[in-house]
Parts: sequence; C-alpha cells; structure tokens
Amino acid sequence: MSRWTLKRARIMSENPGSTAAESYRRLRTNIEILGRDGGLKTIAVVSAEQGEGRSTTSANIAVAYSQANRKVLLLDSDLRSPTLHRIFELRNDRGLSTILAGIGEMNEVAQRTEIDNLQVLCAGPIPPNPSELLESEAMTELLAAAKEKFDVVIIDTAAMKSTSDALIVADKCDGAVLVIRRGRTKLEAAEKAKLTLQASRTRMVGAILNHRGR
Ligand SMILES: Nc1ncnc2c1ncn2[C@@H]1O[C@H](COP(=O)(O)OP(=O)(O)O)[C@@H](O)[C@H]1O
Ligand SMILES: [Mg+2]
Repeated sequence: MSRWTLKRARIMSENPGSTAAESYRRLRTNIEILGRDGGLKTIAVVSAEQGEGRSTTSANIAVAYSQANRKVLLLDSDLRSPTLHRIFELRNDRGLSTILAGIGEMNEVAQRTEIDNLQVLCAGPIPPNPSELLESEAMTELLAAAKEKFDVVIIDTAAMKSTSDALIVADKCDGAVLVIRRGRTKLEAAEKAKLTLQASRTRMVGAILNHRGR
C-alpha cells in the first residue's frame, strides 16, 4: 500500500483539520443522534462495488469515534480481500476468520493501534468458506460480545455486488452506511444496494459520497 493510500485512509488521525475529516465527524454525529436511544452500536460500512472506499471510510469513521473518546472496535469482515491490517500496519495471521473457525477469541486477537481507544480485529487468513463463517452463530455471538466490550463497532465489508457477505453481515448489525463513489458508482447499483439493505434487518443510517475532491 502506497504512502498516499495510507495517508488517505488515516486522514482523521493525520489531518484532523481537513474538510474530509470534518465530513467523517459529521457522519459520526449523525449516527450518534440517530442512535440516541442506545440502539446503534454495530455499524456496517457497505458499498455496491470494489474500490468505492468502504475500507477508507470505515477506518476514518472508527478514528472519528475514538477521537470523541469512544471505545471503538474496527472489524474487517471483508474476508475475501482484507485491507484494514494494511491501513493500520497490523498482523493478519489471525483475525475474524480464525476466530469464527473456532481458534482464539476476540479479546486476545483484537490489536491495539497507535490511536487511543481504537482496537482493530483484522480479517485473518482468507478462508475457503467466507459466507458460511459470516452467517454462523459464532459471528452473531462475536458481535454481541463486541457490543458489550466497546462503545461502538465499525465493520468493513465486502462489495455487495459480488457476494452476499456484506448483506449477511449488515443483517446482523444495528445500522449500515452506504458508500457511493462519485463518478464511478452507477446510480442503478447504488439504488439496488439501498433496496437490498432496506429489505434486511439493518437500519440505513447514512450515505457517504466519496471522492468528492476529485
Ligand atoms: N476520498 C478518496 N479520495 C481519493 N482516493 C480514495 C478516496 N477513498 C478511497 N480512495 C482510494 O481508493 C482505493 C479504494 O479504496 P478502498 O477504501 O480500499 O475501497 P473498498 O474498500 O470499497 O474496496 C484506495 O486506493 C483508496 O486509497
Ligand atoms: Mg475494502
């Protein structure tokens, strides 16, 4: 991952005064207002296609929460093309995939970062059966345990277009944020993603128009 990509992905911590950082803070505030009753603790960050900015957005929303003194777990549920370990320069030899396969548990596998209040649970080695793992009772239990331990859990997901992984995950979450990439996400694809999410148990809590500056 290039230096530029790393910087972009960590803009909240490296350039907190920027307009991009302000947008992430605003999104955080919106989610907090919507979840005033305490019902919005697990938030999936989803998008229709690959490369629209889910990982970048989830990393920055997570940092925005941690800067507001919330205890945050950032979880990489994109078991097919994991990214968060690269953004935060963490090990990925174990993670969500190994926990769901029955090896180890969240408390020992989640990693601390250079950012106070922020822990990351990486995706782990690519498993042969991602959808099955995400659909499992173990995943539901892991999210429940994470809600107990952290103030908020931000979840990076796989692209909705290629597999049902993101929908499976979002369905287990309290809310979902839809990332739309300016000039790239087709209106039709975004609309379809939105309708699919609305049919699930999750609550759409926001959309982010990414790549605005380009
Ligand atoms: N707002 C942005 N401006 C410029 N580049 C961006 C922006 N958001 C994401 N990127 C870049 O686009 C690429 C894909 O972003 P990523 O967050 O990995 O997408 P996804 O997780 O949806 O596949 C990365 O190289 C990332 O650095
Ligand atoms: Mg990604």
